[in-house]
Order: sequence, then C-alpha cells, then structure tokens
Amino acid sequence: MSDQIFIVIVAVFQIQCVLNNKSVPLNDYLELKSRFLFANNITADDHFETYYAGIGAHIVLTDPNEMTMNAQLMSYKDKEIDSGLSDPNRFYASQSFFKSKIHIDESKVFELIRKLPKGASLHSHSTALVSINYIFNNLTYRDNLFVKQNSNDKTFILKFFKNAPGWPWRAIQEMRLKHPEFNSQLKRQMTLALSTSRDNKNAIWTRFEAIFTFLRPLLTFYPVFKDYFFQVLEEHYNDNIRYMEIRSGLPELYDLDGRFYDHEATLDVMYGVVNDFMTTHSNFVGVKIIFSPNRRTNLTILATYIGFLKKMNRKYPDFLAGFDLVGQEDAGPPLKSMLPILLEIRKNFKLFLHAGETLWNGVETDENLIDAIFLNSSRIGHGYALVKHPRLLKMVKDKDIALEICPISNQILGLVNDFRNHPLNFLIANNYSVVLCSDDPSFWGATGVSYDWYVTFMAMTSRHADLRLLKQLAINSIKYSALTQSEKIKFMKQWFIDWNQFINNYFP
Ligand SMILES: *[C@@H]1O[C@H](CO)[C@@H](O)[C@H](O)[C@H]1NC(C)=O
Ligand SMILES: *[C@@H]1O[C@H](CO)[C@@H](O)[C@H](O)[C@H]1NC(C)=O
Ligand SMILES: *[C@@H]1O[C@H](CO)[C@@H](O)[C@H](O)[C@H]1NC(C)=O
Ligand SMILES: *[C@@H]1O[C@H](CO)[C@@H](O)[C@H](O)[C@H]1NC(C)=O
Ligand SMILES: [Zn+2]
Repeated sequence: MSDQIFIVIVAVFQIQCVLNNKSVPLNDYLELKSRFLFANNITADDHFETYYAGIGAHIVLTDPNEMTMNAQLMSYKDKEIDSGLSDPNRFYASQSFFKSKIHIDESKVFELIRKLPKGASLHSHSTALVSINYIFNNLTYRDNLFVKQNSNDKTFILKFFKNAPGWPWRAIQEMRLKHPEFNSQLKRQMTLALSTSRDNKNAIWTRFEAIFTFLRPLLTFYPVFKDYFFQVLEEHYNDNIRYMEIRSGLPELYDLDGRFYDHEATLDVMYGVVNDFMTTHSNFVGVKIIFSPNRRTNLTILATYIGFLKKMNRKYPDFLAGFDLVGQEDAGPPLKSMLPILLEIRKNFKLFLHAGETLWNGVETDENLIDAIFLNSSRIGHGYALVKHPRLLKMVKDKDIALEICPISNQILGLVNDFRNHPLNFLIANNYSVVLCSDDPSFWGATGVSYDWYVTFMAMTSRHADLRLLKQLAINSIKYSALTQSEKIKFMKQWFIDWNQFINNYFP
C-alpha cells in the first residue's frame, strides 16, 4: 500500500470518528484526563489548573521562612492578578512601561523583588545605565556645560568647554533662566517616550540611537564619566545586584584642555572606578566588560580590534569578558558578513552576540541566530526570534547557551506590546537557560534590573510561578556569567548567604 493511500484511509477513519463521536460520559472523561496527568508526572496532589513546570519548578523550598516568604509573595501576586482579571486596566505588569512604571513603583511584589538578592546583571550597555534623575539633576547642573540648538530639528546638543565658546553655544544656566520650558525639553530628549508609530521599527531605532548620540558628550567628559560609572555601580548595588557584565564600545573621553582619551584610556578609567567601588563595597563581586563596537563599523577598523583586545587582555587579564557588536540588527550588516574577523576573535575570546532581536522571519537578522550558535556564542543577546526556529531552539538547549532576555527593552523598541505575548513565556515554560537583563534602563526611566524581573514574574509566566522561579533566575545569572568556575562557586556561596539572610530578616 502506498503512503498516500494509507494517509487517505487514516484521514477518512479519523473523520468518521469525529462524526460518530458522541460525547463521553463524565467518568470516562475524568479517567482520560487523569491518565494524561499521570503520564505527565503530575501527582494526585497537584491540580492540573495549579500546575507549574517551568524554570525553578524543580526547586524544593524547605526552609520555613522561605516558605512563609513565598506565601507572602504569592498573596501579593494573586491580589494584583485578581485585580487585573476584574479590570484589565489595572493589570499594569503587562502594559506599556511608560504608563505602568508609576504603578509598578507602588507594587508590593515589585518592592519585594527590589530587595531580593538577584545575583548578576549580564546584558546592559555602558552609557544607558543610570536613572534619568541622576543624569538630569546631577550631571546637567555641572560647571562648564554649554548647550546649542540643532538648526534643523531644534533638538539640543550638550558639551563641556573650558571657556564660553560663543554663539550659538550658551551656558546651560542661562538657557534655564531664559526658557522655562527648556528643562522639560531636555528631559524629553533623554528618554524614548512612546513615539506615534509603533509600526516603523526603524524610526524607533533612529530615535533610540539619537539618545546615545545626545548623551555622549555629556557622559564622556572625563570627570563626569568617572562619577557616572561609579553611579552605575551604586544603583545596581542598591538594586541588589552584586556583579555585572557590561557591553561597551569604550567611547573616547575628552577634557577641558582639549585632550582626547582613546579606547584603552576609557578601559583604564572603568577599571579604576570598579576598584574604587570595591574598596567601599566589599561584597561586590566586580565587573567585566564585553567590548562591543557598532556592527556598522568599517571592516578595516573592526579588524584592528583583534589586536586591541589581545593587548587589553594582557593588561587586565580578568577585566574583559569577550566581544559583541551593537546597533540595530535589522539595519545590518549581518554576522555572516564579518565571519573572518569573528572567527579570529573567537580563537582567544568568548562571544556574547546580539542575535535575532527582530520580528522578521527568514531574513538576515533572525538568521544571525545561526551564526551566533555556530560561533559558539557563550550567550545570545535577546534571541527574540528564536522561538520561530525549532531546530535552533534544540541546538541552544543542547549546547546550553543562555538567553539574555530584556523584556522592557523589547517592548519599547516595538517588538511586543502586551508582555503576556512575549516569547519569554515559552522559554520559561520549557526551562530554557534564561538570564533576565535590562539593556538600557536609563532610556525608559528605569534603574537596575528589578523592573524586568517584575514584568517577567507577573506577566510572562504562569500565575502559579513562585519564589522558586526568582531563585533560579538569580542562580542562572551566576551560572551563565563569564566568571571562572572557582569564582562562580565563591559568588554562589555568597549569594546563598545573602539570600538566606534576606529571607530570615524579612519577617520580624
Ligand atoms: C553629583 O554626584 C556626585 C557623585 O557622583 C556628588 O558628589 C555630588 O554632590 C552630586 N551633585 C549634585 C548637585 O547633586
Ligand atoms: C574603512 O575606513 C578607512 C579609513 O577611514 C578607509 O580607508 C577604507 O577604505 C574603509 N574600508 C572599507 C572596507 O570601507
Ligand atoms: C564550537 O564548538 C564545537 C563543539 O565543541 C566545536 O566542534 C566547534 O569547532 C566550535 N566552533 C567554533 C567556531 O569555535
Ligand atoms: C530545568 O533546568 C534545571 C537546570 O537549570 C534542571 O535542574 C531541572 O531539572 C530542569 N527541569 C526540568 C523539568 O527539566
Ligand atoms: Zn543590547
């Protein structure tokens, strides 16, 4: 019998079954369901409706205080979800972050997540990492800061000068006095408030990259950069992060005497700041830098970075985690266009490649995932498109490549509106190696990683996912870091002590 005939017979048989099928009696129905539950390892104590099998589900909470904490957390979570079920307007966790942030700030779940020892932050960009308050209230009030207006689009440009450079530059204090609306315009230029069209992702990216360009002369002023970077560490420390891997293009710095500082000097500054920070924050584990030039960097210049990385690695053997490329993936060029350079870098360094940060399917951007995986990228940045590629998903699982998920960034850059539709739902449910990250929290008025943890916990997994999910996410952030095995063990021990201390001190 040929295959086709066999298929036709089976199909006819199935249709007849459906047509003839009268509904089964309740007892038979329940029998079928319980056989399914049994076959899927769901015990008699679990009701199918309350079953959670995703990340962290294998953890058994035994410490009584931890169980009390979990009960407390879940009662807060239930309350917010019930409130959202009765009025979806009040389910802030899934909504547009720009609108929901003020409500998240009042959430009990969020308050608890902020205090939780969260381990490490593994995907964020060096010039988008502090609160807007600090940039605005502190940095823009410094001496020697001047401002001029762009003639075409009326946006402002900031820069430090030793002496007044003359028209069209004006001292920032003078602008503030003469133009009452100046401050609010300046603030608007620092964040990616929702633009009118969410459909044109390129337009969103143009605005996004314009913020980097706008902030650059403010942040890369040598004395400011030091303070700024110290503040980055302070804010993350206060968010209960103890270690960071930060992507940076190591931007050139400048000072009042017209001196410029190259990539190496910028790395020197960062290294010094981390050391200073650690003398006053003795339980901070440290920072590693992932050198990340723009993907649109000319190939000749990109090739010179191979030597630069080697030199920096000799100078600071523990400070460089590896290499990545930044900038809008959809705008290209794809990874496959620079394979000789990436393979050369891969000989001595780990890769942490952004890949598949896109809604497209079957184009160069999502196919970057193939190169990221075949280049043995240690982790993948975003991997948003991965769930559309079952074979790549399997490879990611087999090679245990961690996925750096930055939910709020994805929403703001137009990949998803309602977080309940984010592919992270699938990744958590299927126990992928996820680490939660913040990407560029400054630009949407966030700080640290807690906001991303909150929206994940509330809107991107089962209602029944509990403290065990959060615990495993913290563990993942240590496990998939670029620390050495012995450093990880040490960090994990310290984290475990912090975790227990937090749990035990939470209830007076
Ligand atoms: C700005 O922050 C620095 C530390 O980064 C601090 O020493 C200084 O007092 C702050 N200045 C203002 C005006 O807040
Ligand atoms: C890269 O830039 C250099 C110097 O600006 C230029 O000479 C060279 O032609 C460029 N190479 C490519 C491949 O665009
Ligand atoms: C990636 O890892 C596999 C398995 O260890 C190895 O065979 C392959 O050569 C590696 N590829 C690269 C580009 O390093
Ligand atoms: C999920 O992954 C963890 C390791 O991260 C593992 O210990 C656990 O057994 C896995 N759970 C399932 C259901 O496979
Ligand atoms: Zn990123």
